[in-house]
Amino acid sequence: MSTQHALLVCKTCGTVYAEGKPQGKSDGQELIEQLQELHSVWELRDEVKLQEVECMSACSRSCAVSFVASGKYTYLFGDLPAKESAQAVLKCAKLYFENPQGYLAWADRPKPLKNSILARIPPIA
Ligand code: FES
Repeated sequence: MSTQHALLVCKTCGTVYAEGKPQGKSDGQELIEQLQELHSVWELRDEVKLQEVECMSACSRSCAVSFVASGKYTYLFGDLPAKESAQAVLKCAKLYFENPQGYLAWADRPKPLKNSILARIPPIA
């Protein structure tokens, strides 16, 4: 059985509030919708689960996504433009899936994810 991988996407990133209530579609929701469309026909859709989450404490650096798998580095990225990042995020998810340690070298990462790492957490030893 292969290790389950997950691409976590914050759906509350970039939410605009008025009188305490969210207004319209958040940037995170925009990114998720684009990712869902691409993910539904992606070659790794069964291996890398797309999962919506609410806030990964990177709110001031939205949009935020994370790559997670047992036995691999966990990455958190921010500063991703909502309407221009979906393809790059899936490309990076493929790199993550294919690397045994989940290591994402700077040179290999697509542009929006080159300089936007917020955390790289080692796997449990
Ligand atoms: S709202 Fe997206 S990380 Fe907090």
